[in-house]
Amino acid sequence: MKAIVQRGYGGVDVLEFSDVERPQIGPEEVLVRVQAAGVDRGTWHLMAGLPYLVRLMFGLRGPKNPVPGLDVAGVVEDVGERVTRFAPGDEVFGIAAGSFAEHARAREDKLVAKPAKVGFPEAATVGVSGLAALQAVRDHGQVRPGQRVLVLGASGGVGSFAVQLAKAHGAHVTGVCSTAKTDLVAGLGADEVIDYTRDDVTDGRRRWDVVLDIGGNRPLRALRRALMPTGRLVIVGGEGGGKVVGGVDRQVRAMLLSPFVRQELGTFISSENARDLEVLADLVQSGRLSPAVDTTYALADARAAVDHLSAGRARGKLALTV
Ligand SMILES: NC(=O)c1ccc[n+]([C@@H]2O[C@H](COP(=O)([O-])OP(=O)(O)OC[C@H]3O[C@@H](n4cnc5c(N)ncnc54)[C@H](OP(=O)(O)O)[C@@H]3O)[C@@H](O)[C@H]2O)c1
Repeated sequence: MKAIVQRGYGGVDVLEFSDVERPQIGPEEVLVRVQAAGVDRGTWHLMAGLPYLVRLMFGLRGPKNPVPGLDVAGVVEDVGERVTRFAPGDEVFGIAAGSFAEHARAREDKLVAKPAKVGFPEAATVGVSGLAALQAVRDHGQVRPGQRVLVLGASGGVGSFAVQLAKAHGAHVTGVCSTAKTDLVAGLGADEVIDYTRDDVTDGRRRWDVVLDIGGNRPLRALRRALMPTGRLVIVGGEGGGKVVGGVDRQVRAMLLSPFVRQELGTFISSENARDLEVLADLVQSGRLSPAVDTTYALADARAAVDHLSAGRARGKLALTV
């Protein structure tokens, strides 16, 4: 099959469009004929091998799985002997191991039925970013109706879902992004949009009940200034935190400090599970959640897509079509 293959870590030139063997599936896995693959920050981290912590987990010289891509949408081609929820021909989306390819294998419990309301490219952008946004808003932010929620990084992959999900939970949402994307964030339903190049939302003049820190890598003390005295801070991620640990020290300090202050300061790593993918699928099907897909590239143009994302130009999400 045709696939994007990555043998080492580096810039986009480590991504080669070539022929590889189709993946073999295990008893609890599904072989998906990929129709579209989402491009997410995690895939960039795995391509670059940055922060170096990634290499300890995924392979020292290059990724153990040479085909990149996590987010997938496609049609079931084959199922393992213990798979009960899917049969060949089903349209699905979720998280796979190596979705930048004509076929990808995925665990049965990381896939759900594709909502008919959207096409494959839209569905392919929901898994990774939608799960992070849902769990940030619902579980870690515990957003309730009427609360004021600040979304730092509202125009990106996770943020474009988080704005819509916080609205769906009844919150008053302030989205923060760069000048060129304020229209996008307003269109996602944010009640207010703040351009971070013009206003400092952490100057202490205003405070929010929940702060979702998705982009910008602000210091913990600045984030706390934007938070009500008993508010909740959820650190989802942030780029530019150094080559070795990628700024994860902010998360560690937040967790260590939290028991000693009135504010709840926390972080999390998304859980990839079918139950939450179902929640997202239902919201998409009902029209309450719309994947904000900026551009769709052909699989062979994966380098251009990853360049687009890493340059910070993506408005919401990007997808590859196969
Ligand atoms: N915890 C988890 O399990 C989990 C899961 C998924 C992702 N993540 C992490 O979450 C982070 C965001 O992922 P993503 O997919 O949303 O990335 P993305 O699509 O690249 O979006 C990044 C966002 O950060 C914004 N941003 C950049 N500088 C900013 C600043 N100074 N102030 C406010 N916002 C700023 C960008 O806004 P502009 O483009 O308008 O500048 C954009 O909205 C990444 O670090 C990723 O690794 C964590």
